[in-house]
Amino acid sequence: IIKRAGQAAADAKAFGLDGVYLHGHEGYLLEQMTNPAFNRRKLGKYANWQAFGLDMIEEIRRRTDNAFPIMYRIDLSLALNETYGKTMDINALKKFKNGRTVEMTLDYMKNLVSKGVDMFDVDLGCYDNWWLPHPPEGMPPACFSDISRIVKKYFDESNILSNAGVKVPVVAVGKLGYPDVAEEVLMQEKADMIMLGRPLLADPKWPLKAKEGRTDDIIPCIGCQEGCINEFVEGGHPQCAVNPRTAFENIYPEEPKVADKKKKIAVIGSGPAGIMAAVTAAKRGHEVVIYEKQNVIGGRLNAGGRPKIKFDIQNYHEYLKKLIEKTSKEYKLKLVLKTEANAELLKKEGFNAVIYATGTKDVELRLPGYEKANKVQAVDVLDNPKIVDKANKVVIIGGGVVGCETAFFLNKELGKEVTVIEMEPYFMNHVCTANRAYLIHYMEKAGIKLLNCTKMLSYEINGVKVSRNVSKTVPNPYKTWNPILPANIENPLAKKIKEEYEEQFIEADIVIQAAGGRCDDSGFYALQKEMPTCEMYNIGDSFKGGKVFEATKSGYAVGLSV
Ligand SMILES: Cc1cc2nc3c(=O)[nH]c(=O)nc-3n(C[C@H](O)[C@H](O)[C@H](O)COP(=O)(O)O)c2cc1C
Ligand code: SF4
Repeated sequence: IIKRAGQAAADAKAFGLDGVYLHGHEGYLLEQMTNPAFNRRKLGKYANWQAFGLDMIEEIRRRTDNAFPIMYRIDLSLALNETYGKTMDINALKKFKNGRTVEMTLDYMKNLVSKGVDMFDVDLGCYDNWWLPHPPEGMPPACFSDISRIVKKYFDESNILSNAGVKVPVVAVGKLGYPDVAEEVLMQEKADMIMLGRPLLADPKWPLKAKEGRTDDIIPCIGCQEGCINEFVEGGHPQCAVNPRTAFENIYPEEPKVADKKKKIAVIGSGPAGIMAAVTAAKRGHEVVIYEKQNVIGGRLNAGGRPKIKFDIQNYHEYLKKLIEKTSKEYKLKLVLKTEANAELLKKEGFNAVIYATGTKDVELRLPGYEKANKVQAVDVLDNPKIVDKANKVVIIGGGVVGCETAFFLNKELGKEVTVIEMEPYFMNHVCTANRAYLIHYMEKAGIKLLNCTKMLSYEINGVKVSRNVSKTVPNPYKTWNPILPANIENPLAKKIKEEYEEQFIEADIVIQAAGGRCDDSGFYALQKEMPTCEMYNIGDSFKGGKVFEATKSGYAVGLSV
């Protein structure tokens, strides 16, 4: 492997590449060999956990020359002990307890430099705490800049110079897509450079816009990992929730093509789908009016951005507001708030096309006791938290993203005692492992009760009656170090879940329904009946419930073709 790494580097140089970048992080091969958490050899040269990495660098240097840059990605620590504490002793995780400490890593880095590494980017974590190397929405901006600072300080104080005789540049990574924050990291000398991953998928022009001071124009990454990670995990290819063109550059033009026939278009609803459709259509020369029945734009982004951990959604919401303002100045786009567009208005205004994007309708759990129960929808709680003022104990029915985020919000921000029940074995199934593990980990720390394989039976006075599978084979709902395999991958080792259902009563002052949204296309079909000759589209959640990812894609596609 070492010889071949040297050959690959020599080939790279011969091909005219500018340097090589080694992946010594996240539990991949180079890290497996250079971290005692994974390398448990007792015999042979590589029982010394530093030797494999040092040999590899030596070989690459030998096969290239001193002027050929070698960059190395490293984690300062797997941070497993810090993440899981005592849980490390009782689980499969205990095999990984003796990972490289920070001091060991710094010593290894010093030795790597002496063998020829020119530059590092420094990260934290591994697959078993995946929200560290893939920090989701709730993780703070510049979450690892203190990590790069440790390395930078160590190199400075130890006067460690690269083989080119210069200070070894240290690159910070992780949620640096906020230009002001990124600049601060550099100004405070926490790193010599910053690295951007997802922010460039969200907006490939990030560096140019930041340089020109056009920061309001930067499409902000929302940390959802729906497009970039979950798509390929679930069988697609990396793309982006807020930028439908990312990874489809060969299909979609950089700027939308001007329409042959200019139309007057009404867009009903100003969630991400409606806005994307409206802005794209306006850029193509159409005259577009967005009708929004509320007094703010954003649709579900308003409720979705309520919890503090969803500040990335708030950012995106702000971006969309400015996008409408800017597009309105340059193109024929108008936003009309507090107006519910009906057939009469649309006919009177003489629209040639209507794009219907009114969003989703929450599922009502009509179970016994429904009429008299003290119940609300999770989305209504997020919209107006005052409605749960009087409740102390709450039970949330539905452990999808909305249920779990509402649970965390109610507990952390409003101090409620929260139980979440979920019929399925897993909470937030089909959400990116990093995002779901992050939230579950912090829900556990907050003392939020998660009951999986539990079905609600009825609303009762002061609570709900549930049927709960109490079998020992029910998976631990707080387990965050195991990914859930996609449905198309069968796990032959998976243990069967036995069924031992038991009726239980869960006390609660209020029941919060979070059973998901159902597309409500009745308005669309009613409109179509009244305006049968009008070109009409139904997009976003009012076509099929989804996330920002699906909404922007449908809006963009219709905006390009209308
Ligand atoms: C699609 C995608 C694939 C990634 N693959 C890897 C990988 O193989 N190894 C790794 O260490 N990090 C990987 N990352 C993590 C990024 O390199 C980066 O550390 C992380 O996204 C945080 O930086 P950001 O906030 O600028 O995106 C990947 C990220 C994305 C979005
Ligand atoms: S899919 Fe989500 S996390 Fe990934 S780059 Fe796009 S906005 Fe960011």
